[in-house]
Amino acid sequence: MKQTSRAVRIPSLRKKKEQGEKITMLTASNSWMARMLAETGDVDILLVGDSLGMVELGYDSTIPVTLDDMVRHTRAVRNGAPNALVVADLPFLTYTSDTDALRSAARLMQEGGANAVKLEGGAPLVQTVRRLVDAGVPVMGHLGLLPQSVHQLGGYRQQATAPEEQEALVADALALEAAGAFSIVVECIPQEAARLVTETCKIPTIGIGAGPFCDGQGLVTHDMLGLSGSSPPSFAKRFAELEATISEATRAFAQEVRGGEFPKAAGAAK
Ligand code: KIV
Repeated sequence: MKQTSRAVRIPSLRKKKEQGEKITMLTASNSWMARMLAETGDVDILLVGDSLGMVELGYDSTIPVTLDDMVRHTRAVRNGAPNALVVADLPFLTYTSDTDALRSAARLMQEGGANAVKLEGGAPLVQTVRRLVDAGVPVMGHLGLLPQSVHQLGGYRQQATAPEEQEALVADALALEAAGAFSIVVECIPQEAARLVTETCKIPTIGIGAGPFCDGQGLVTHDMLGLSGSSPPSFAKRFAELEATISEATRAFAQEVRGGEFPKAAGAAK
């Protein structure tokens, strides 16, 4: 099966960066989606992002997402894609102490079957990242727009626009790298800031709304497929319009049921 032969492992991500080969990351939140994405053999990382709180659970932010939610969805993704590289988000306030971070990561890896965890933040989290890595937990960082801090940021807007913020961003990225993170997501920052981080760090950057100069690109799959309603983020290109397809199929089903065309009586001609 394709997903066995193309399964990507964490050390190979760094090699991809060194060889200038782009890394692909898409979110997955259930087993059928994970299975289909993995079977293409084209997705390096399946991210069980806490954005599932918005695209699956109907919340207006990632804040209400619990560790139980993340464990359940991670398990579903692992069930659908047994050989994929699965990274799961540590949700809001589940990594405020090293002990909490270790316990939360243990649940995502042992119960959920994740290969690695992602957490939001820079320099203040360095000790936690080091503790996790020392304990054998691969960690992906996340800088720029931090959705778990949306109330402090005052909304989902571009970050690191000023030169001093870009300097701080690079310092955060280097601190995460030194602490042992294997990769960093940079979300919603100017493309030149993303280029700076990408050129400075040895570990790969995965951009989302951060322009073309990152080592890889990520998207929320619901946005990529046209499944996230009328207002996806402006940077999220829709590669399909599945809402329209689903509406059409639903209307056709209802029409055939009401018209007596579906189902056919047993023995009736097809
Ligand atoms: O939760 C998520 O989907 C993410 C992506 C935006 C990278 O963190």
